Amino acid sequence: MIGCSKMDDIRIPLCNSPDLLDSGEGIPFDVTYHGQTCRAFAIRHDGRVHAYLNRCSHVPMEMDYQPNRFFDMTGQWLMCATHGAMYSPSTGTCLGGPCRGGLVKITLSEEDGVVHWHTAHNLKPVEF
Ligand code: FES
Repeated sequence: MIGCSKMDDIRIPLCNSPDLLDSGEGIPFDVTYHGQTCRAFAIRHDGRVHAYLNRCSHVPMEMDYQPNRFFDMTGQWLMCATHGAMYSPSTGTCLGGPCRGGLVKITLSEEDGVVHWHTAHNLKPVEF
């Protein structure tokens, strides 16, 4: 089964490193998660890049209060626009508000000035 997990992990180019500013706007992208097309987003926090499904754990709604804006006013937390659930930017863990668990994390890597997202057994690119 080792071969399977290797085949599941494909790197897909997402953006250039300078496109993601610390605590700045997110970069949206689409994924297929458990066979369903979902919005996702990438952000940078404390210098490191992270990505999550754009789906609040309270009610499965997109979280940005304006397009691609996920950080609260302090730039320290990700906040859902609908009822104010707060999440850790580095782990997606719920830190306050009405969330029911954390965000679904998507693995990213950053190399030679390019950010890639990684597929997984339940996470694939959208097929056109
Ligand atoms: S939908 Fe996100 S806090 Fe309610």
